[in-house]
Amino acid sequence: MTAITKICCIGAGYVGGPTMAMIAKKCPHIEVTVVDLNEQRIAAWNDVDVTNIPVYEPGLSDVVAEARGRNLFFSTDVESAIAAAQMIFISVNTPTKTYGSGKGQAADLKWIELCARQIARVANDNKIIVEKSTLPVRTASAIKDILTHTGNGSQFQILSNPEFLAEGTAVEDLDAPDRVLIGGDNTPEGRVAVQALVDVYANWIPRERILTTNVWSSELSKLTANAFLAQRVSSINSLTELCEKTEADINEVARAIGTDSRIGPKFLKASVGFGGSCFQKDILNLVYIARSYGLSEVADYWEQVIIMNDHQKRRFANQIIKNLYNTVNGKKITFLGWAFKKDTNDTRESAAIYVADHLLHEQAEIAVYDPKVIKNQIYADLNYLQTRKEEENRKGVEVIEDPYKACEGAHAIAILTEWDEFKSYDWQRIYDSMLKPAKIFDGRNLLDADKLKSIGFQVRSIGG
Ligand code: UDX
Ligand code: UDX
Ligand code: ADP
Repeated sequence: MTAITKICCIGAGYVGGPTMAMIAKKCPHIEVTVVDLNEQRIAAWNDVDVTNIPVYEPGLSDVVAEARGRNLFFSTDVESAIAAAQMIFISVNTPTKTYGSGKGQAADLKWIELCARQIARVANDNKIIVEKSTLPVRTASAIKDILTHTGNGSQFQILSNPEFLAEGTAVEDLDAPDRVLIGGDNTPEGRVAVQALVDVYANWIPRERILTTNVWSSELSKLTANAFLAQRVSSINSLTELCEKTEADINEVARAIGTDSRIGPKFLKASVGFGGSCFQKDILNLVYIARSYGLSEVADYWEQVIIMNDHQKRRFANQIIKNLYNTVNGKKITFLGWAFKKDTNDTRESAAIYVADHLLHEQAEIAVYDPKVIKNQIYADLNYLQTRKEEENRKGVEVIEDPYKACEGAHAIAILTEWDEFKSYDWQRIYDSMLKPAKIFDGRNLLDADKLKSIGFQVRSIGG
């Protein structure tokens, strides 16, 4: 096959957008078109003011500014982009099913199938299809099945090339990834397709960091990489409760564990619970797959990671209630942070949503400040849970754009996201404006507890 000169990516979200922007930046000789059904989203990617792109990631607007209009295009014309491309990335969402068989666990592949059918309808020459979205192992066989019955004789190769970028560090992760993983068929045509994608990445990534495997290993590695990472967070979080009972300190324990080079220091930060679009969804999916093969011990083993995470979120909310004399009815509790981690405007599965829901159930009044999350998103997240009427969420939660105002008159502050700016606030000023005793529940062990205590705050951290 001749070298790739035209790429199309279906899905302009948190994965497709940044990944394609980086490919376009590093490969000026390749024309990259990112398409999406969502017109508003595409309009935002095309906004003349490049800081208005729909995904917030440090450094991303510079990458987009460099390539957009040169060899990076955003469009809603899905069919033309598919027809023109030699290589098509599928980067659409694969949420957990909310209905029918596998509800609450299996990945909903509706959008993936729609993409495959659309490609089958439009393509009139040979194409390489690249699975970028995280998919259950064996999805490629379903995509292949749909594509081979198009009847017009076009040949398709299906590759799996999962994205390992973490939100908040997407640009760094794309620029210098630990590895790029490419899975393909072990046939002559499969090997040619794998090589074509290797050649794209080789424009900026050292060859030894590009791993090639069969399709199934690649699909399964993505799911299980996330499961391993989430397991570390649940493992350390499981010990926070034990620390609180025994006067051990979780930060000290994490340091002691993490200095074992076999374990390593990363992903041992205790927290109110992990969130994000991947961890929970992928583990549930792994559990579902294991169960569907009759592997109940394997399923139960991984399910415990989620059970622990749910427990951690609930435990944090319960601690607030208990500490506020067992009632939060009518009390103002200020949330600093709503995103699932710092440096992103993504809120999917954020612990803040569940903690808020629990406190609203106890009739607390919640004020929220987050540096990057917009008001409507916060209400949308709560409404999505369908635990109460939308008006009730509006009534119980106030979103405030100034952190000092948000804290005024509060009984307690809860830190839900580890935004750096929280550390440099004028905490004396905040203390002065709050009801006493002024309490802080630090769900991220972010703030300097000794300093806050010297101001007069009562501070509860996780596992301390
Ligand atoms: C362990 C700890 O490594 C050591 O730090 C502690 O002081 C004592 O316990 P040990 O039990 O001697 O040491 O051996 P280790 O190499 O950790 O292996 C433990 C078990 O895990 C073995 O059965 C080993 O075969 C198994 N293992 C280890 C795996 O199955 N896979 C691995 O990747 C690593
Ligand atoms: C994750 C994987 O890291 C990435 O490789 C994969 O491609 C997608 O899923 P992401 O969800 O963007 O990335 O963020 P990540 O940094 O992994 O954090 C996930 C959650 O775990 C966050 O809510 C974070 O706050 C929490 N976390 C992480 C902890 O609570 N403690 C830690 O030590 C690390
Ligand atoms: P991720 O974090 O995986 O990138 P997002 O939800 O941010 O997930 O992005 C997925 C994008 O894919 C959404 O913008 C959605 O509109 C788009 N999408 C889903 N299905 C299709 C489709 N069949 N054609 C084009 N775009 C699609």
